Amino acid sequence: MNMHQKKRILTGMRPTGKLHLGHYVGALENWIKLQDNYDCYFLISDYQALGDYSEDVSKIRNSVIEVALDWLSVGLDPKSTTFVIQSYIPEYAELSMLLSMITPKSMIDRNPTLKSEMERQKNVSLGFYNYPLSQVADILLSKADLVPVGEDQLPHIELTREIARKFNRIYKDIFPMPEALVGRVPRLVGIDGRAKMSKSLGNCIYLSDSEKTVKQKVNKMYTDPTRAKATDPGHVEGNVVFTYLDAFYSDKKELENLKKKYTQGKVGDVEIKNILSDLLNDLLKPIRERRKFYLDNPEKVRDALVEGTLRAKKVAQETILEVRKAMNITGYEDINNIRIMNTLDNK
Ligand code: TRP
Repeated sequence: MNMHQKKRILTGMRPTGKLHLGHYVGALENWIKLQDNYDCYFLISDYQALGDYSEDVSKIRNSVIEVALDWLSVGLDPKSTTFVIQSYIPEYAELSMLLSMITPKSMIDRNPTLKSEMERQKNVSLGFYNYPLSQVADILLSKADLVPVGEDQLPHIELTREIARKFNRIYKDIFPMPEALVGRVPRLVGIDGRAKMSKSLGNCIYLSDSEKTVKQKVNKMYTDPTRAKATDPGHVEGNVVFTYLDAFYSDKKELENLKKKYTQGKVGDVEIKNILSDLLNDLLKPIRERRKFYLDNPEKVRDALVEGTLRAKKVAQETILEVRKAMNITGYEDINNIRIMNTLDNK
């Protein structure tokens, strides 16, 4: 049982660049809502990112700060949440190693996320191969009750439960069974309409984009290719602008109206694009202001990272000690153990 009052949350992001609207609707927006009611640990998983960028580590280094800045800018509050730099807490690696001893290789091979990624990159490193398990260790080290993740990460949570169950059965009942919390919009399409907003596809709107850039990007979005002029009846299905409006327009009734007008040829592409870029810029305005504040006060970014990591370190050390005791790998320095050995030898 966890001793803390509020339920604990752990989730994370790999620091591989600045964050975009896909991160916002798929994760951050949800995290902001959770931060007041849960004891939140937000992990910047730079160890895990090494699995992707082992030969370009500088990219990870810069991104750790960038991610922290993005998190602060969207309104995650370091007073009520805990930001954690993974690599400053080697206990994550230690737990991952210990858990690997009770994890059948076949259990990792079965993991669908890993499977599909291994198909893309044929010769993955052992470190990369181990990443589902390292994520299990991330979750269990903080004894998280809930894990907000994207839909694609659900198999990792199932794996976590399986391994936690096995540990609890073999050694000692230490770990709570974590549950997944899936965000509102699991995956946001790119501005080009491709399945996913992703830096490598170059189809992102970043949280740090200026008002002008957002406008330009929205203007470039695909709408309805069958429509030649604004008075033609338009299609909403598969129309990127409407996909975004679905994700960001809070007044659903008004949006239904707009869709109706569009399908009747009563509203043009320029107009719906203007509506969307205004909407996005309204959303991003306070984010830009907070970013400016933190860029002017960099010590606040550092404090968030350092204080959070220290807090998490304490929890990590407690859990690791519990784990080592449960597995009976402590106490070699205890003089009594040496005496017992001596009497055994003389028998
Ligand atoms: N894999 C996540 C990402 O792709 C980051 C992450 C690391 C994570 N450890 C985690 C997510 C534990 C949830 C739980 O960015």
